[in-house]
Amino acid sequence: MERSAGAAGVPEHSDIGAQKNRVVTKEEWLQKWEMRNIGFHKQQGHPLLQKHLDVLLSGRSGLRIFFPLCGKAVEMKWLADMGHSVVGVEVSEQALKEFFAEHSLPYCEEPVPEISGAKKLQSTSGNISLYCCSIYDLSSYASLMITLMEENSSYLLVTVSYDPNKHEGPPFYVPESEIKSLFGSHCEIKYLEKVDDFSERHRQWGLDYFLEVLYLLKLVSD
Ligand SMILES: C[S@@+](CC[C@H](N)C(=O)[O-])C[C@H]1O[C@@H](n2cnc3c(N)ncnc32)[C@H](O)[C@@H]1O
Repeated sequence: MERSAGAAGVPEHSDIGAQKNRVVTKEEWLQKWEMRNIGFHKQQGHPLLQKHLDVLLSGRSGLRIFFPLCGKAVEMKWLADMGHSVVGVEVSEQALKEFFAEHSLPYCEEPVPEISGAKKLQSTSGNISLYCCSIYDLSSYASLMITLMEENSSYLLVTVSYDPNKHEGPPFYVPESEIKSLFGSHCEIKYLEKVDDFSERHRQWGLDYFLEVLYLLKLVSD
């Protein structure tokens, strides 16, 4: 197995072969929520987001902040409490209902006529709007993120790094080269930090390291 270090100093696997055709279907995600197999949810929020929030916000107030694949991320409540408005997209209605219930937030539901089967769950206060649909119903993920960004937008993107030949995912290994290939022609990509997130769960998957790698993306004008 060829391994080299990317600009972030994180091992880059030249072959993501084992994960190349691996897809987690909508049904599998719904089942994870139903079976409470939600080890990905951080009840205390993501430490890297807390640590780098200033870089993302750059002192701005009243922002509209997008959480793709939001689950029931607690940061959505924090940011709304700070005066920002939040838009999320999540395929599991259960996750969204848990979000509102766990924060004791009243909300209302309405269909989204443009997307068949999609619903919007919106806090009664109006500052949190969570769309229940697949993000792929909106557009392909990376191009959607680019179209949502304006000149001064900042996008904090966290990826995970491990040996993809040892675990089939999810979460999926995303090399820096992939970030560059998806976003590099539109965005300046700044590597911020990598942290060791290795735990017993990862050891049981057969891994010997597991890193989280954080990037800050900013749209570059043409
Ligand atoms: C890694 S989890 C993120 C969870 C979130 N950070 C939290 O704290 O709950 C990924 C989430 O994306 C959702 N998801 C997966 N594929 C999706 C898709 N195509 N469209 C919308 N949501 C999706 C899953 O149901 C899951 O809740």
